[in-house]
Amino acid sequence: MKIYVWGTGCAAGDLIDMGLAVERVTAFLDSEAHGGFLGRPVLRPEAVDTDGEYLVLVASRRAQEIVRQAAACGIGEDRLLFLRNNWTLTDRNTDYGKARDLLPSSLLASLQTPPRVIRPLSSTPDSPLTERDLEGDYVRVRTLELLCAGLKDVPGAAAELGVYRGGFARCLNALLPERTLYLFDTFEGFDPAEARGEGSGFVEAHRNTSVETVLRLLPHPEQAVVRQGLFPATAQGLEAERFALVSLDADLEESTYAGLGFFLPRMSPGGYVLLHDYLNPKLPGVRRALERYEAEHGRLRAVPLCDVNGTLVISL
Ligand SMILES: C[S@@+](CC[C@H](N)C(=O)[O-])C[C@H]1O[C@@H](n2cnc3c(N)ncnc32)[C@H](O)[C@@H]1O
Repeated sequence: MKIYVWGTGCAAGDLIDMGLAVERVTAFLDSEAHGGFLGRPVLRPEAVDTDGEYLVLVASRRAQEIVRQAAACGIGEDRLLFLRNNWTLTDRNTDYGKARDLLPSSLLASLQTPPRVIRPLSSTPDSPLTERDLEGDYVRVRTLELLCAGLKDVPGAAAELGVYRGGFARCLNALLPERTLYLFDTFEGFDPAEARGEGSGFVEAHRNTSVETVLRLLPHPEQAVVRQGLFPATAQGLEAERFALVSLDADLEESTYAGLGFFLPRMSPGGYVLLHDYLNPKLPGVRRALERYEAEHGRLRAVPLCDVNGTLVISL
């Protein structure tokens, strides 16, 4: 049976890191097909060979969109198995049979756990956020929306350290359209020295972005100031800047620690720092970085979220 993996992002990287042998993958699929991924070809979805037995593992959260695109390529929904499945109320997968011998048992078990129930929010009827913004991590993004709504008297810019493809930066930009948005990333993945020891899928997936990809996504790109390269060197010259809201999402310990050290002393009173992955067991360096910072500077006022990867909201 031919196996295709739809996506060349983190979810695809995770799938390989979790135990699917990359040699078993006929090809990865990406509507912007580009070279290879982990040594396997990357094809546009139209290139799937729909004759004979095949299965498409959907390593993306964009289920609705992918069902539509797949249908346009002659790939029926019965050929799709969604790997980011238990984020919404309905299980999109009806038949796990084809995947039983293929997927690592831990992944199969997590796919079949009951969905998370999340109450829709009624307090933000004029939200600039789209369904797509909310699809990946509803609690994280809706919390950001509520925090931004409370920043009216808080001066300062917005910033993100760790932008990747710009999904969260898009929300920051949409919710704070009047503010400068500093974007700190290499846009080429992690510092190889710092990422030594991380899974190869995780590392390669994060190379898969560019400044143009991110700017295209922003509703107010004129507010963006791109600081490309390795942080904290890229913060040079911004010592006098003040911030109202910062997303720290660098995944690894030293970069996170450097981010805390740069941004926290420059936050306006009433502002927030969102430390992503604080409770993510796969990225323990984030928590270690915070503990180091607190040991040196004292306990911060902070609230953990029950979002997908356990963001810590630090309140200044
Ligand atoms: C998990 S991704 C960010 C995801 C993004 N915030 C989102 O929610 O869509 C982590 C990013 O941090 C970047 N990064 C980590 N350490 C960095 C450093 N020292 N300098 C610049 N970028 C860094 C990586 O290149 C990667 O794109």
